[in-house]
Amino acid sequence: MSIQQDNISKLVERRASALLGGGPDRIEAQHKKGKMTARERIAMLLDEGSFEEFDMFVQHRCTNFGMEKQHFDGDGVVTGCGTIDGRLVYIFAQDFTVSGGSLSKTMSEKICKVMDMAVRNGAPCIGLNDSGGARIQEGIDALAGYGEIFERNILSSGVVPQISGIFGPCAGGAVYSPALTDFTLMVKNTSYMFLTGPAVVKSVTGEVVTQEELGGAVVHASKSGVAHFAANSEEEGLSTIKKLLSFIPQNNMEEAPIRPTDDPVYRTDDFLNEIVPDNPNKAYDMYYVVRSIVDDGEFFEIHKDFAKNIIVGFAHMNGRSVGIVANQPNMLAGVLDVNASRKAARFVRFCDAFNIPLVTLVDVPGFLCGTQQEYSAIITNGAKLLYAYGEATVPKVTVTLRKSYGGAHIVMSCKQLRGDLNYAWPSSEIAVMGADGAVNVLYAKDMKAAENPEDALQIRARKKKEYEDLFSNPYQAAQKGYIDDVIEPRNTRFRVIRALEQLACKKQDIPAKKHDNLPL
Ligand code: HXC
Repeated sequence: MSIQQDNISKLVERRASALLGGGPDRIEAQHKKGKMTARERIAMLLDEGSFEEFDMFVQHRCTNFGMEKQHFDGDGVVTGCGTIDGRLVYIFAQDFTVSGGSLSKTMSEKICKVMDMAVRNGAPCIGLNDSGGARIQEGIDALAGYGEIFERNILSSGVVPQISGIFGPCAGGAVYSPALTDFTLMVKNTSYMFLTGPAVVKSVTGEVVTQEELGGAVVHASKSGVAHFAANSEEEGLSTIKKLLSFIPQNNMEEAPIRPTDDPVYRTDDFLNEIVPDNPNKAYDMYYVVRSIVDDGEFFEIHKDFAKNIIVGFAHMNGRSVGIVANQPNMLAGVLDVNASRKAARFVRFCDAFNIPLVTLVDVPGFLCGTQQEYSAIITNGAKLLYAYGEATVPKVTVTLRKSYGGAHIVMSCKQLRGDLNYAWPSSEIAVMGADGAVNVLYAKDMKAAENPEDALQIRARKKKEYEDLFSNPYQAAQKGYIDDVIEPRNTRFRVIRALEQLACKKQDIPAKKHDNLPL
C-alpha cells in the first residue's frame, strides 16, 4: 500500500469511528430510550445528502478526573450545515452518547462556530439539544462555554431565525440558550427543561414532583409557554421544524419564500356573513375565520396549547407568508390576559424582525381584570403587546369582526399604532366599553333615583339602546377615519390580500436609538 493510500484508509477509519460517537453500546442505550442519535436526527431533518459536517475530529482538552484518557472524535456535538427544502441552514445536534452530550469548552467552540457562520452567511441556526448540561469535569470552562453560546444567541437574535429542538434533558442554566432563541420545540415523554430537577426541588421546597410534571413538553407548551410546540415523537418534531422554516425568511434582510397557490384571490365565503351570532355574549370559533381567509385553509399554529384566548401562527395569502394574530371568542371570550399578551407580543416581534406582514383579526372584550391579573403585572404584560404592535414596521392589516373595546382596541393594532389598513365588519362594536358597563357608569345615579325597580330597569333598557345605537357599530370609527372601510365579511380574503399587495413595498422607520426599552 502506498503512503497516500495508507493515509486515506486512516482517514476512512477515523471517520467511521467518529460516526459512532460514544460507540455501539451507547447508541443502543439511546435507542432503547426511544430516542434517535444526533446523526439520525440530522439525517432526518436535512435534505438527503446535503449535510456538510465541520469539526468531526475535535476533541476536548480536559485533564481532570481521568478525562485525559477518554477521547471521542467530535466531542459530544455534531455540527455543520445542510439544506431543508433546498434552503441553507446551520445546525448543531448534541450527542448524548458522548459524556451524556454534556457541554465541554471545545464543544461550545464547535457550536459557536456554526452560530457565527449562520449570521455571516445569513441562514437560520437550528440547535437540537440532548445534554446532561455543563460537563462537570471541566468546571468553570464549561460555564464559560455556555456564556459564549448565550452571547451569540443574543447577537443573532433578529438577524437570523434561531430554532431550538429539545430532544432529551436540558437542565440548569443550559435552558437559557433555547429560551433566547425564537422557537422552542419539545418532544413529549423524552425531553424536559427545568432549572433544577425533582430531587433538588424536593430538598429545597419539599415539593414532590416528577420530571414530566416539572418540565415536560406538555407542561411547557400549555402552562409556562416556554415551548412553542410539543411533538408526539422525534419524527413529528423534526417535520414541525421543517414546516416552520417554510414560512420564514433566511435572515432579516430577506423575505419569506413565496408559495404559489391555486386558491383564488377572489374566493368569497358566504358563511362569514353569518358567523357572528346575534347575541353579543355568544361565542364563535375564530379558527373558522382564519382558515377561511388564508390560502388552501392551511394555518400553522404557534403556541397552540398556551393562552388559547389568542391565536397566533403563520399562513400564506396569495402565496405570501403572513403572521396571523386573532382573538378567540371561544376561549375566555377572547379577553387579553397576561399570557395572551406575552404570547402575541413575542410573535408580533418575530414577524416584524423578519419582514413577515401581520394580519390581525379582532374580537376582544378588553383586558381581564382582578387581583390575580394585576398581581401578575397585566399592566406591564399588556404593554408588551402594545409596544410590539406600535414599533412594528411590517405591513399591518387589521380586521375588526365584533368587539373592540377600550385599551384592548388600541393594543390590537389600531390605526394610531401605525396600523396600515384597518377594516371592520358591519357587526363591529368599536367603543370605550360594552353597553352594560357604560350604562352602569353613566346612569347609576338615575337608576338609583328611580321610584321603583321597574322604572330603574326601564331607564337601563332605554339608555342601553341609546348607547348601542350610537356606539355598537363600526360607523363612529369609520366616520372619523379610524378604520379605512367597513367590509362585507364574505369578502375578507380578497380585501386583506389586496391590502397586503398594496403594502408590499412599504417603508417605515423608527427613530434612531441604541435600542428600545420595551416593558419586560
Ligand atoms: C459529565 C455527564 C454529565 C455531565 C451525564 N454525564 N451528565 N458527564 N457531565 N453533566 C455522563 C454520565 O456520567 C454517563 O457517562 C453518560 O453521560 C450518560 O449519563 P447517564 O446518567 O448514564 O444517563 P441517564 O441515566 O439517561 O441520565 C441522564 C441525566 C443524568 C439525567 C442527564 O446523567 C444527570 O443527571 N446528569 C447530570 C446533570 C447535571 O446535574 N448537570 C449539571 C447541571 S448544571 P458514561 O461514561 O457512564 O456513559 C449546569 C450548569 C449550566 O448545567 C450553567 C449554564 C449557565
